[in-house]
Amino acid sequence: MTDKTQSGIFPASAEFVANAHVTAESYASMYADSVKDPDAFWAEHGKRVDWIKPFTKVQNASFAPGNIDIRWFEDGTLNVAANCIDRHLETRGEQTAIIWEPDSPEEQALHITYRELHEQVGKMANVFKGLGVGKGDRVVIYMPMIPEAAYAMLACARIGAIHSIVFAGFSPDALGARVNGCDAKLVITADHAPRGGRATKLKDNVNQALLHETRDVKCLVVKRTGDQIAWRAGVDFWWHEEAAKVSADCPPEEMNAEDPLFILYTSGSTGQPKGVVHSSGGYLVYAAMTHEITFDYHDGDVYWCTADVGWVTGHSYIVYGPLANGATTLMFEGVPTYPDASRFWQVCEKHKVNQFYTAPTALRALMGQGKEFVERCDLSSLKVLGTVGEPINPEAWNWYNDVVGKGERPIVDTWWQTETGGHLMTPLPGAHATKPGAAMKPFFGIEPVVLEPTSGAVLEGNGVEGVLCISSSWPGQMRTVWEDHERFEKTYFSDYKGYYFTGDGCRRDEDGDYWITGRVDDVINVSGHRMGTAEVESALVAHAKVAEAAVVGYPHNIKGQGIYCYVTLMNGEEPSEALRKELRDFVRQEIGPIASPDLIQWAPGLPKTRSGKIMRRILRKIAEDDYGALGDISTLADPTVVEELIDNRMNKD
Ligand code: WTA
Repeated sequence: MTDKTQSGIFPASAEFVANAHVTAESYASMYADSVKDPDAFWAEHGKRVDWIKPFTKVQNASFAPGNIDIRWFEDGTLNVAANCIDRHLETRGEQTAIIWEPDSPEEQALHITYRELHEQVGKMANVFKGLGVGKGDRVVIYMPMIPEAAYAMLACARIGAIHSIVFAGFSPDALGARVNGCDAKLVITADHAPRGGRATKLKDNVNQALLHETRDVKCLVVKRTGDQIAWRAGVDFWWHEEAAKVSADCPPEEMNAEDPLFILYTSGSTGQPKGVVHSSGGYLVYAAMTHEITFDYHDGDVYWCTADVGWVTGHSYIVYGPLANGATTLMFEGVPTYPDASRFWQVCEKHKVNQFYTAPTALRALMGQGKEFVERCDLSSLKVLGTVGEPINPEAWNWYNDVVGKGERPIVDTWWQTETGGHLMTPLPGAHATKPGAAMKPFFGIEPVVLEPTSGAVLEGNGVEGVLCISSSWPGQMRTVWEDHERFEKTYFSDYKGYYFTGDGCRRDEDGDYWITGRVDDVINVSGHRMGTAEVESALVAHAKVAEAAVVGYPHNIKGQGIYCYVTLMNGEEPSEALRKELRDFVRQEIGPIASPDLIQWAPGLPKTRSGKIMRRILRKIAEDDYGALGDISTLADPTVVEELIDNRMNKD
């Protein structure tokens, strides 16, 4: 084990540093260059991708109120799929691009070479074209973690269609809303999605989602299990049948750097999820660069990110970043605990994984199962460990470091968001001694500022805490909210003028290192899945027996945050366990199992101001079991409701 210093700071070994892409010295000088002359810096790094027509303009971005306009490499043209596939054919056509590990270890893993990837993506692109999909059209991908999900993404990119992936854990209603939201021409799915030994009926979900459509939305179906499904004649097509009819030759479409590559719906503090739009050129440059540098990826390494392609992490760090770099990327269909809690580590051993990237919630779940599950596997291939999605608690960090990394592998705790396209803050493994739970330093070109939450004043110097904003653009930044640029401006640029507001709180410690303290808005993070409390509330109030609902997060040992619901029933409705279950099922049906309420408290009244605004701050404190800090409740219309809620608080344990 490496010595750790007294202060809990963990440096990488000298051997690691000697071979690292970025060291402490090069970080300092590169970072300084990146913020002193961003145009020169990004003009150079823009060359990471192959351009059909090279750009002459680097950046044209404004965070000015009323004029939010973000463009990178705006006169360049490229094709993202060609960058992720074709340009590697000559040098690494026979190299494995994707290792696919199925849900069951009994089933054979697949190794798909860049040449095979080229062929499959070409075919799928031609099938899409045959189904009437062209440049600028939207395609919804609702898939298990199978290679065809990556083919579908890249096939869209190849023909210039815009994909919108909907995580397979979302319900038919949520899927339907997203198909409608972007007016998709085509949905691609599989018959069933095996996960953890159980199968989700994906195609049936699609059928239900499309029931309310007045348009004929076509559906391309990948045969995964071969189990029975309901078929919609004339609009449903089997992928294997269509693939047999087309050639693999599909010339890549020439796209502008600013053409949208994908839409990805994500939760915010108000309203329904919004369609985050990412560009083609800037996004790819940023995903590729962060993938290489954050994970210190070297040619020949086997890299594994355990996320799902339904989330941004899967987009940037399973598919686009790694493939743009000509990497071997592992796609895992299953879950960490199936068939048992050693599955992650068995897969690392089996495929000799070098970089392993997962979520704190998975680590916490596995930690509870005991270290024997890790120790029985040979993890000597591992070089870098990563985490993403939520703050990591020191216990989980230490377990990851000691038990998985044997104290010898740098851990990169990457902080970023769906909106940012790639990592904004993270330790770089060869450059920064890490501190458990710290996001440490900004990536190149990222200028974080910590603001006083109420006044918006910039907090200078070290040892400060406030809200986190970013003061200038970077290539991977989202460009707009799909068909709602006003919402883009209102959500991210109106609270603190001239800055991109992240929604996260942040501390810059005495050494100038950054710590993310969690969301400061009504977004909660449940098992690393981002959720708007407003969405869960609107699902609850859609139930006939519910008059009013307020939802907050509370600390949960495994999930990070759990979903705590205060529910006021309609007059005459009686609370019961059966009704609790009914409401839980109802939310699962409206949004999906990931939004399943953990605790439902019956609330005869909710704490409101005299103007009728629910005081969530108080509800949060009650859910957190932190009554001492309730603060001023004198502005409440009826302060007695607070006592009543405290008396009837749900027992968390
Ligand atoms: C949180 C996931 C602490 C944060 C890539 C952010 C984190 C939200 C970290 C975005 C981290 C993500 N440490 N918090 N390393 N990574 N978060 O859009 O609150 O699903 O705003 O993107 O997750 O979640 P999203």
